[in-house]
Amino acid sequence: MQIYKGHILFTKTPDKFDIIERGYIVVENGKIREVCATLPEALRTAEVVDFGDKLIIPAMNDLHVHAPQYRNMGMAMDMELLPWLDNYTFPEEAKYADVDYADKMYRRFVKHLWKVGTMRTVAFGTVHKTSTIRLMELFEQAGMGAMVGKVNMNRNCPDALCETVPDAVAADEELINTWNDPEGLVHTILTPRFVPSCTPEMLTEIGRLAHKYNMPVQSHLSENKGEIAWVKELEPASTCYGDAYRRYGLFGQTPTLMAHCCYTAGEELELMKKNRVFVVHCPLSNCDLGSGMAPIRTFLQNDIPVALGSDISGGHHLSMFQVMVYAVEISKLHYAQSDKQMAFLTLPEVFYLATKSGGSFFGKVGSFEPGYDFDALVIDDAELNHDDYTLAQRLERFIYIGDDRQIAHRYVRGNEVLEPTW
Ligand code: GUN
Ligand code: FE
Repeated sequence: MQIYKGHILFTKTPDKFDIIERGYIVVENGKIREVCATLPEALRTAEVVDFGDKLIIPAMNDLHVHAPQYRNMGMAMDMELLPWLDNYTFPEEAKYADVDYADKMYRRFVKHLWKVGTMRTVAFGTVHKTSTIRLMELFEQAGMGAMVGKVNMNRNCPDALCETVPDAVAADEELINTWNDPEGLVHTILTPRFVPSCTPEMLTEIGRLAHKYNMPVQSHLSENKGEIAWVKELEPASTCYGDAYRRYGLFGQTPTLMAHCCYTAGEELELMKKNRVFVVHCPLSNCDLGSGMAPIRTFLQNDIPVALGSDISGGHHLSMFQVMVYAVEISKLHYAQSDKQMAFLTLPEVFYLATKSGGSFFGKVGSFEPGYDFDALVIDDAELNHDDYTLAQRLERFIYIGDDRQIAHRYVRGNEVLEPTW
């Protein structure tokens, strides 16, 4: 058993921060047993790890990021999605046929996630199985949680990234069957890139695997108007983009993440609601690629689950704190554009999306409630000089103007995660 003491801030619900000044978190076997303002009598003599004036918050969860686009982070933002994929993204991903290159870049990527306090990640790899396994091994070695997808694609891409359907199925099945420890922190997730990259045969087979193994699925949805028009041409029998995934068993039949959803409305929105499909909001990417403003308030009002993603390198920041800030900022543009009809997102709301809501895709992750995994960050914000700030104001300032230098400790399932030694 471990007991941690500090200023505890988390979001049980999206409407407000739960704050316990100089409180205690009691952890047993990696899980939270109790969160309290004063220790119960029976524990009064137990050893306490006292973090003094520091903040203890849930660790960050990034539900959509492209690991092999790490090298392109912060550049190549002069095009919209489809030419951006052809000109910048696919050429970089093709390099991951070389496992040594993948190893070198994935080490940097995982280390950077560690730095910014993202302890659970849902990542796209590339079409290459061996390189994708390398990424999974690195997450495992680091002690960080991840779901990693070997990308499926077999049309509208360079030959170097094109696989056959039988090869895709064989590789996916191998990953499903080898990364299947229910107690493990790293698993696979089925990852058809998006409808334009996958033939109906490919989508059919991936849907079959999802059903057969009850596997989660991730993909992209309604990100860009040109993309949506293209999907309409490619899938004329579908009533909307989301319906194309649904017809192949890839839209909530198993737990499903759909990144972006900038233009999701009407039938597609109803389908997401009915099938409990997660929206992964990637606000930096939506700005950088000029994609649009996702109607997050509408999703929340409809009780559609929403998480946040960095979408490197569509987005340019790996820090989920920056992603939170952009989510608020875009929502304020939406608010102004809607003549104040669409209430903007608040800080506790976006914090909830990055912690408890996103974390729910991994199980009981992202909150400080009994039964939850103790995934946490300890924030030493002394240098942001907080003489007379409240705890909520200190957290707000850290989110807006802080960075990894203030993250003093990181925990996953009760274990402290140290900087990877590579
Ligand atoms: N749609 C299909 N592939 C991608 C990708 O790599 N990034 C983004 N943002 N959208 C996509
Ligand atoms: Fe993406």
